Amino acid sequence: MCGIVATVGHKNAPEFILEGLESLEYRGYDSAGLAILNSDSEIEVVKVVGHVANLKDKTNNQNLTGRIGLGHTRWATHGQVLTKNAHPHQDQNGDFFIVHNGIIENFQSLKDFLMNKGHRFSSDTDSEVIAHLLAYNYKKLKSVKSALIASLQSLRGAYALAVISKREPNKLWGAKLSGPLILGLAKDNSYYLASDSLALASVAQKIIPLEDFELVEITPKGQTIINLKTDQIVSRPTELMKLTKEDSQLGDFEDYMIKEIHHIPQAIGDAIRGRLNIDQNFITLGGLNSVVDQLQYIDRIIIVACGTSYFAGMVGEYLIEDIANMPVEVHLASEFRYRKQPLSRSSMVIFISQSGETADSIGALEVIAGSGMLKLGIVNVVGSTISRLTDAGIYCRAGLEKSVASTKAFMSQVTILTLIALYLSDNYKDYRLLSQQLVNLPSQLSQFLNQHQIKKIANKYYQASNFMFLGRNYNYPVALEGALKLKEISYIHAEALASGELKHGSLALIDKKMPSLVIALSGKTLDKNVSSIAEIKARKGKVIAIVDDAKSPIIDQVDDVIVIPKVIEPLQPLVSAIACHLFAYYMAKALDRPIDRPRNLAKSVTVE
Ligand code: M6R
Repeated sequence: MCGIVATVGHKNAPEFILEGLESLEYRGYDSAGLAILNSDSEIEVVKVVGHVANLKDKTNNQNLTGRIGLGHTRWATHGQVLTKNAHPHQDQNGDFFIVHNGIIENFQSLKDFLMNKGHRFSSDTDSEVIAHLLAYNYKKLKSVKSALIASLQSLRGAYALAVISKREPNKLWGAKLSGPLILGLAKDNSYYLASDSLALASVAQKIIPLEDFELVEITPKGQTIINLKTDQIVSRPTELMKLTKEDSQLGDFEDYMIKEIHHIPQAIGDAIRGRLNIDQNFITLGGLNSVVDQLQYIDRIIIVACGTSYFAGMVGEYLIEDIANMPVEVHLASEFRYRKQPLSRSSMVIFISQSGETADSIGALEVIAGSGMLKLGIVNVVGSTISRLTDAGIYCRAGLEKSVASTKAFMSQVTILTLIALYLSDNYKDYRLLSQQLVNLPSQLSQFLNQHQIKKIANKYYQASNFMFLGRNYNYPVALEGALKLKEISYIHAEALASGELKHGSLALIDKKMPSLVIALSGKTLDKNVSSIAEIKARKGKVIAIVDDAKSPIIDQVDDVIVIPKVIEPLQPLVSAIACHLFAYYMAKALDRPIDRPRNLAKSVTVE
């Protein structure tokens, strides 16, 4: 939540900050702002409500120049979406300027304390308290770095922040306690801070992801990282910047969501590359090598995640129980962290997260940190917090996912869970068939992406106010995922049920105004889904069926049909979900919604 960028040394700091903020808009986009140190050692601030494009317009009108500055794109937590609540925030004398990502939980008591000391606040945010604390501590300590260290000690909660000050004008400071903050280094001796290396792709050649309890002080001559717990200077090797500017550009696509859906075949191919052996039941998961001995004693798996990653986890439950015959439970991270769990060391916990930065999942991880249980991560963003806090894990390799709606990352997560199920199985009878089909899937899905039936169907249904999604077994989590995606980007209310539950209450909702999308694929539950369709049709409900047989008798019973490639049951979610993603996309498109930046949401939910 919220994106931060900052620089010391870029030849045109406002230009870099505006570009960087644009690439971070997936983290929040309700307001934006920047602060630039100008040639008279004054710090100029520009803030707007709305997207970075508005900030660009306003900044360009002011002809700002400078080599030092910071910027922020906001996802509101404390305080409404108003210009006064946009970052940067400053103290009352205008000496200290900060941008903050996270939540300061004890801000009210700090604010009361500072107000008693005569500080006047200008926003309703928790973040502003940091600027005032800096001013308060600077009075005694006469050094911005010392004032920052003292201020950080008073904060409770989560933060990644960047600071500039008129008191020491040629410097920039960054600090973090949960929430990502990346230090970027460029050949021309310019330095950067950003919430995601994506914002640094066009300027920095090397990066250092900061760790919790680290503070960095940057001057035009260099940077120093200090560990605040040990008070020691940290010397950590730099990493090469792997992202390029093109990675974050749309190319020929209209939106990142559709670009990312079209990237699904490659994402699945990348997830299995070098890991799946078709001929023998032999799965290579290098990320698990260090915990192979512990894995032998595991007899129960707990999967913890949020949102779409949680639904991938539910698919994982079906996969692992079916293929590896091992009991699995799936928990929402936000519930797991506050719930008493009878846990044993023979259980292993798998955390699934695209970003690796989701606060609830990190919170759940922290709850079991000292339990001695094996903790694995299925994470997409390399080097993210969850990938670092888990004992071992498997990267998704889905590449950059920018659209708030997660699509290709879900597919990679499900692919990795399929590999884990095979890895844990002894003698899975359909190993060869499944692995052969998995290898063929990317090319089948590429062909499927070229058909246009889903767009036509969406154009017929986009005015519906409510939608029902139904599926059974492997396709029940896909129904949940389809409903979430529709709500998220089209703002149409949708709910999902395991088809068998329809008659236990929700059937009362069905009438001619409430359409249903039923995933009715070959397999054990096909006949049961056919019965559910009949129950809906008998109540005059419209039905779109996702089928995998172009000659299925279902076709004559329903209003519209989406035909998807036929695969073995454990692989069905990888095919049915892409149809649901496309359906949600075209529904939202027909409604002219801002596909990649749905209202009220942000890509990484780094607050609780
Ligand atoms: O980064 P994570 O996978 O941990 O994120 C979890 C959810 O916030 C995320 O999947 C969310 O539900 C998506 N926006 C759904 O498309």
